[in-house]
Formats: sequence, C-alpha cells, structure tokens
Amino acid sequence: MNFWIVLVLAAFAAGASAQSCSCETSKWAVCDGTPCVCTILVGDNMKQKLDCTKLIPKCFLMKAEMYRAKKGLSTRTNIGGKPDETAFVDNDGIYDPDCENDGKFRAKQCNNTEECWCVNSAGVRRTDKGDKNLVCDKLVETYWVRLQLTHKPVNTPVDAKQLKTALADAIHKRYKNFNKDLVKDVEYDPEARLIVVDVKKEKDNRQHDLTQMAYYMEKDVKVLPMFKDQEKFEPTVGSQKLEMEKILVYYVDEEAPTFTMKNLSGGIIAVIVVVVLAVIAGLLVLFFAKRRESQRYNKAQQREMEAM
Ligand SMILES: *[C@@H]1O[C@H](CO)[C@@H](O)[C@H](O)[C@H]1NC(C)=O
Repeated sequence: MNFWIVLVLAAFAAGASAQSCSCETSKWAVCDGTPCVCTILVGDNMKQKLDCTKLIPKCFLMKAEMYRAKKGLSTRTNIGGKPDETAFVDNDGIYDPDCENDGKFRAKQCNNTEECWCVNSAGVRRTDKGDKNLVCDKLVETYWVRLQLTHKPVNTPVDAKQLKTALADAIHKRYKNFNKDLVKDVEYDPEARLIVVDVKKEKDNRQHDLTQMAYYMEKDVKVLPMFKDQEKFEPTVGSQKLEMEKILVYYVDEEAPTFTMKNLSGGIIAVIVVVVLAVIAGLLVLFFAKRRESQRYNKAQQREMEAM
C-alpha cells in the first residue's frame, strides 16, 4: 500500500518538475535536469545556455535560427519610410552572428565568410562590407527603434487616444516587463491602419535594451512567436483586440551609420550614365574627324604625284 502511494507521489513530482522545466521565452530551447537548465542549438553540437526568465538575446536567437534554416526554415523582407535621417532598416536579413558570452553581438560580423561588416547592438549592418581586415572599434548602440505596425481591418474604429497606453501595456506584458516609459510616441493613421511606435531611450543608457523586444515583436508579427506559448501579439484598445499583419523596424544608432553611396540612387546614376555617353560621343567625333583629315591629305599627295 505504502509503496503505491510513494510511486504515485513520485510520478506527480516528476510530472510537475518536467512541466516547470521549460523555456517560456524560446520555443526552440531544450530544457532538462534538476535544477532545470535550458539550452538552444546554435551549431553542430554547439549549445548556448539560456536564462528563460528573460527575453533571449537576439544574437543567440539569430544564431539558432541560422542553424535551423540550414535544415529548412523561414525568410523575411522589408519596405517603408524613416524616423530620422540616419535611420536605416535591415535589408540584409539573417546571418550567422558571432556573439559575446553575454549575448551581445560582436561589433564585427563575417557570416563565416571572408566578407565582413560592422553592426549595431541590434546586429544590423551599419557599414559597407569589407574584407577580413575591416576594423570595427566598438559596438554602436541602437537607442531608438521605430516599429511601424499595420493592423488587420477592424469592425469599429480604433480610439487613437487609447492607443499609446494600450500598446505600452501590451508591450510591457508580453515582452517580459519591458519598461513602459520607453514607449515614447504612438501615432496612428486609420486609413492605412498604420501604427507608428517610437521606442527610445537616452543616449548612453546601457541599462535597457530595445533590440530584443523589437526582434521578438518582429517575429510575432512576421512569422510565428518565439515564445513557447504561441499566443499572438494583440494589444487591446477599448474592447477591441488589434491583430497585426505587417511590421517594419527602423534603427537609429548613437552614431550615424557609415554606408557610402547611400544616396547613389537613380538620379545620380542617370547623371553618370549621361556623362559617360557624352564622353564616348565626343571621342567618336574626334576619331572620325581625324580620319577624314588624313584621308584628304593622302588624296592631295596622290594628285601631286600624278602631276609629276
Ligand atoms: C550568410 O550566409 C548564408 C549562407 O551560409 C546566406 O544564406 C545568408 O544570406 C548570408 N547572410 C548575409 C547577411 O550575408
């Protein structure tokens, strides 16, 4: 009799510990043991230990995603407008990042190739690509992100006045107590169903990190949640839940990025083409003029010879 009670209790205990030994902030984590330890695969036989009471550093998540992608998964694309003239979006997409021990991005990234570039604290490229000798003297902090969200059509109009509080609350709740005070501005365009959220901290503030929250939200909207529970990111405004269908993230760094030829767009390229064509035309004219002249000279010589 006693034996059975012990067995049942043991089974319960095992069940309970198995249940609590899981990773809330990453569905890809594998958790095991007492005490419970969670890890994520970032390469062949390469496990990264995780603190699942917090959002997982983006660098670890990207590394894990890259590893998983090698075995068949996900893509992403972008389009849109700007919060600041130095703001930029991630046009490169995912790569296999080098992470510091604490989960920060290394300033220089090479994606396992000979081609390297410098990134900001969000791991987004902020310089031109160079070779292995490229120097990135420090990791430049992203202190402002603009989240451009498009929500799905709604039945009743959205109350714009409640939007800021609703979004700050939703972000705070979903992204592990993310500081509401950093949600500075929320603008709304009902026609476009566009919500623009500015999340910003003081320059030099190293206490808060904006990039993890932004990455989790990007995944929530674009692909599937990174969280173990697969609930949607749905802020409640008034009595209405807003489901999101698109997101575009702008990054503003403490120092302006140094892409060259950033503005070498259509106009300048057109001017260069016109100038090159004009030079070629000029050379051709010169060439034919010279040839005609020498032909005339030859004929004149011939006539002189005949006369003699
Ligand atoms: C990194 O390399 C992978 C192939 O290993 C490629 O699919 C990906 O586009 C590269 N990313 C960048 C940003 O260069």
